[in-house]
Amino acid sequence: MEKSLILYALCGSQRKASTNRRLLEALRDSAPAGVSIRVCELIGELPIFNPDREGESTPAVVEEFAAEIRSCDGIVVACPEYAHGLPGGLKNALDWLVSRDEVPFKPVMIAHASHRGDFALEQLTEVLKTMSLRLVDEAFLRISLLGKSSETQADVIAESVESGRLLSALVKFCAAINRARA
Ligand SMILES: Cc1cc2nc3c(=O)[nH]c(=O)nc-3n(C[C@H](O)[C@H](O)[C@H](O)COP(=O)(O)O)c2cc1C
Repeated sequence: MEKSLILYALCGSQRKASTNRRLLEALRDSAPAGVSIRVCELIGELPIFNPDREGESTPAVVEEFAAEIRSCDGIVVACPEYAHGLPGGLKNALDWLVSRDEVPFKPVMIAHASHRGDFALEQLTEVLKTMSLRLVDEAFLRISLLGKSSETQADVIAESVESGRLLSALVKFCAAINRARA
């Protein structure tokens, strides 16, 4: 039997009504048996990255964040595009991990809650690859919630659950994680 998997979800939006967070929560709620998804609540708490504060002077919240990354089997990222780029908070969180040993070869999937935002997707892909994360392309999931009312978003998510799109992306991601372990 496969070992149970823990996925850690990073949301690039700090908005309460974030569509990216909603997508991550929908993935969390659709996770197959043996898979649990925890949505990170620390991104907005991290100080601005400063290499002078690495090593012994690393802030406690950064260590807490890094420990979550270390203990998970895979990472799910969803983020909006801001001014044709990555949201600063997400990039800041990733910057804290660049010189550490938690992320190399850690599997990652991208979920995207917009029909737009291809600049951000391209940048995110480049950053993750540069950090030596293992991007699982076949698990990429794009479900547009942008510009929809909360009720319509709920309908779109319900349809995606019904059609198996959310589950299918997670199954592909978890299969890639398990294959890499075998
Ligand atoms: C400051 C700012 C800049 C934005 N720039 C872009 C952009 O360059 N391209 C784009 O497609 N959307 C842009 N948007 C729209 C957001 O990407 C979009 O609203 C996204 O769905 C928000 O994600 P969220 O619902 O998870 O917060 C921008 C929004 C804000 C607030």
